[in-house]
Amino acid sequence: MELRTRMMYDVLSENRIKSVLKTKLMGKKIYAFWSIGTTNDFAYLRATQDEPEGALVIAEKQERGRGRKARTWDSQFGKGLWFSIILRPDLPSNKSGLIPYLAGVSVAQAVEKIIGLRPDLKWPNDLLLNGKKFCGILSDVQFDNGNIAFIILGIGVNVNHNPAEWSAEVNDLATSLRIESNRRIDRAEMLAEILACLERNYEKFKADGMGEILDQWKQRCPTFKKNITVLQEKQKLTGLFFDLDEEGCLVLKANDGKMIKIITGDIII
Ligand code: BTN
Repeated sequence: MELRTRMMYDVLSENRIKSVLKTKLMGKKIYAFWSIGTTNDFAYLRATQDEPEGALVIAEKQERGRGRKARTWDSQFGKGLWFSIILRPDLPSNKSGLIPYLAGVSVAQAVEKIIGLRPDLKWPNDLLLNGKKFCGILSDVQFDNGNIAFIILGIGVNVNHNPAEWSAEVNDLATSLRIESNRRIDRAEMLAEILACLERNYEKFKADGMGEILDQWKQRCPTFKKNITVLQEKQKLTGLFFDLDEEGCLVLKANDGKMIKIITGDIII
């Protein structure tokens, strides 16, 4: 394909996204930006202004892409999928930690369908191929009287990056769908598949709860039921990755048999 045609074809405009979407709820309303600070903040603002669930905020580039724990998220122009979805699940506040698992499973299913490779999930919510991260999930939640008012699911997927675009240190830790599949990926098609999986899983969760989705998450997590070390701000905890509980906490069985619930941290492999 001629370069100019290909570039136009790959632009994530509202029309292009609409032309490939297969969903009813996810992407019902689309805010597509050339450049934005972070899609999560814009989605959060829209949600405080009563934007219904399913709205999608997406940008070709983020100036201040955010990762977990105030890390920055490299969001180069035109290379990835940087987007946020507004959800309004009918759940008490203490269950808000469950929704990101639903997103992780959905991205993994979509990637498997489009490129035929099965991503690993790493707690709390990284997606890896060949041991390197290509997707991260960041959720921002607003509570109202002990319930979730809305949750912003921010998803970043490295899609068409080449190794030459990253430093050696980044290449050791990060990858893209293009690097792993050896082909350029149509970002709109990838987005449409992620949203289709997200919608299917969200419906399943609303009908039957999170049980099956958490089971799928665990099946895709190679460290589940293995010995792990969780690094937290002030401590390191070691033990068996025993379970995910009904609030989405990691349950670690320590060497003395004690069960420890962990809300946040990073697993060191
Ligand atoms: C992480 O792994 O630390 C989470 C990364 C989340 C990145 C996405 S990109 C879209 C949305 N906007 C942001 O600023 N962050 C999330």
